[in-house]
Amino acid sequence: MSSLSFNKNMDYFKGKIAVVTGGSEGIGKALVEQLLGLGCRVSTCGRSADKLYDLQVLHPDKPLNTFVADVGHENDCVQFIKSTLKIYGGIDLIINNAGVSMRGLFNDTKVETFQHLMNVNFWGALYCTKYALPSILERRGDVVGVSSIAGYRGLPGRSGYSASKYALQGWLEALRTELLHTGVNVMWVCPGFTASNIRFAALNTEAKQQGASPMEEGKMMTADEVAQNILNAIAKRKRTLIMTGQGKLTVWMNRIFGGITDKLVHRFYFKNGELVK
Ligand SMILES: NC(=O)c1ccc[n+]([C@@H]2O[C@H](COP(=O)([O-])OP(=O)(O)OC[C@H]3O[C@@H](n4cnc5c(N)ncnc54)[C@H](OP(=O)(O)O)[C@@H]3O)[C@@H](O)[C@H]2O)c1
Repeated sequence: MSSLSFNKNMDYFKGKIAVVTGGSEGIGKALVEQLLGLGCRVSTCGRSADKLYDLQVLHPDKPLNTFVADVGHENDCVQFIKSTLKIYGGIDLIINNAGVSMRGLFNDTKVETFQHLMNVNFWGALYCTKYALPSILERRGDVVGVSSIAGYRGLPGRSGYSASKYALQGWLEALRTELLHTGVNVMWVCPGFTASNIRFAALNTEAKQQGASPMEEGKMMTADEVAQNILNAIAKRKRTLIMTGQGKLTVWMNRIFGGITDKLVHRFYFKNGELVK
């Protein structure tokens, strides 16, 4: 926390009630911890009770509600949001962060992998926001989706991930437009490669966790830096945030030079004709 530099308007978060999905690890955990540090009451969920317990133990005296929920299941989301409303009396801010990735060519990959990704990355965000929105509307708060460059540019071997992030962004863009004059800000953010568990937990062609990362995690942005960027953007009430130069360039290139970008993206994700897994 101490090495992070927030912008001046971080009082924005003081006294607010924040929901972060998937807060037991990675970017979600960093968001939870920074929001607590900024004076929020925070409610978070994940599937693993052990990981949530560890988070609770790290912050014994902080206003932190943890709830075991799989956001891919609508009823879990209903119960999670209900528990938050019961404990804190409202919701100002929801950050739909829980997410899962994949690595596998479309032709080799079971439908189950795609279903799982859509359930968590798209439906999970939709369910939680659906049940939190009445309170967020009353409080003129914020709806945030943690997306990816994969939501602007289809990535080979991650076609289900791209589909889920395109769906997330399309839905949030429509929601933002619906809510334009309500005082609620809707934003999505696209981190670049961030050191976390996401590539280890990514599903393979059999819908099982990969258990390994094909990339050098140590060279990536940290989850803390990403969380700080997200909170700065929320406080500024931005529409979208693409966090890296590489991400901005990819989105721009894809819009203007689609064919060349196909070749460059293929070169990045394939080595000797094989998908890098
Ligand atoms: N890391 C990157 O390079 C990167 C880049 C761009 C975008 N993003 C996006 O950033 C978000 C966070 O990713 P991360 O890198 O922090 O991943 P991570 O380290 O794997 O953490 C994922 C978190 O989500 C939870 N989660 C996973 N499936 C869930 C489910 N079905 N229901 C509830 N919680 C669930 C996990 O807890 P349990 O396992 O206990 O459920 C964990 O707390 C994702 O939306 C991801 O797409 C990440």
